[in-house]
Amino acid sequence: METLELTPDPAGIARAASLLDAGDLVSFPTETVYGLGGDARNGAAVAGIYEAKGRPSFNPLIVHLAQASMARAYVQWSDAADILAGAFWPGPLTLVLPLRENHGLSSLVTAGLDTVALRVPAHATAHRLLAAFGGPVAAPSANPSGRISPTTAEHVLAGLSGKIAAVLNDGPCAVGLESTIIGLGDGQPTLLRSGGLPQEAIEAALGHPLAQPSGGDVTAPGQLSSHYAPAAKVRLNATQAENGELLLGFGKMPCDLNLSTIGDLSEAAANLFDHLHQLDAKSRPIAVAPIPAHGLGQAINDRLRRAAAPR
Ligand code: TXA
Ligand code: MG
Repeated sequence: METLELTPDPAGIARAASLLDAGDLVSFPTETVYGLGGDARNGAAVAGIYEAKGRPSFNPLIVHLAQASMARAYVQWSDAADILAGAFWPGPLTLVLPLRENHGLSSLVTAGLDTVALRVPAHATAHRLLAAFGGPVAAPSANPSGRISPTTAEHVLAGLSGKIAAVLNDGPCAVGLESTIIGLGDGQPTLLRSGGLPQEAIEAALGHPLAQPSGGDVTAPGQLSSHYAPAAKVRLNATQAENGELLLGFGKMPCDLNLSTIGDLSEAAANLFDHLHQLDAKSRPIAVAPIPAHGLGQAINDRLRRAAAPR
């Protein structure tokens, strides 16, 4: 199949929506990373997502909605959901909630769990596409499973060209890290994946700390240790390059590419995956400078640890 490159104008968005309607797969931009979208009610479309990514079937998908008000059709809503959705939707936050009866989603979306992950993205083109389609769109990050997430349409095409119907090209993603995932079942809201919305902001909205996932239990399978990995070897907390390494810097320092010369964590997050893609293309080992652990630095360090994990 030849992958169409669509422009984010009304004709491109209408075309993308009709492809989704026909059960085809369309990659679209969000503020976090590019997603690989398919109709979440259509089992064949969702199976196609797993196939295109080469993703293990136990790893469930996030369902994207145009409006927060649509969430109640799929899940048992709660006060905590109301607080977090009210504060942060649309935005880089995913909520995992108990499924309600007759939700109509393909069981492949949830990989058989009795919860589902929902997100309302804050990106004009994503919103227009979701509104034009009118239904729930299952969308993992649009990269082959286990590889670096895509923050441009070029990254998407490099990994999935020929395997998906289309990509809606609207330039680079502003946040550059996947959404923060919060589990809202019984008990305390739990941080399942750090991401583009800092933990501190969520705790301030809730008025109490988040619980950490209980050790060892993989509740968000994207949390498997080797993930987001470039093909090259990655070494962390490096102050200089050694043995043919390329150095990915942070703050003012000599290096091959710099995440943010002014030491700004938002800028570093937006550059992270693109810089890893660029360095990875040079087939040399990668060394990465230390990144502060607060705010978005938590998610940046999380992704870097996974990129560096033995595999
Ligand atoms: O920013 C994002 O979240 C991007 C954009 C496209 O929205 N999407 C994304 O999707 O990162 P993906 O599939 O690459 O990561 C989804 C994560 C996985 O770690 C998955 O295991 C977890 O969400 N997840 C999905 N449903 C879940 C559930 N019911 N319970 C726990 N974790 C779940
Ligand atoms: Mg992913």
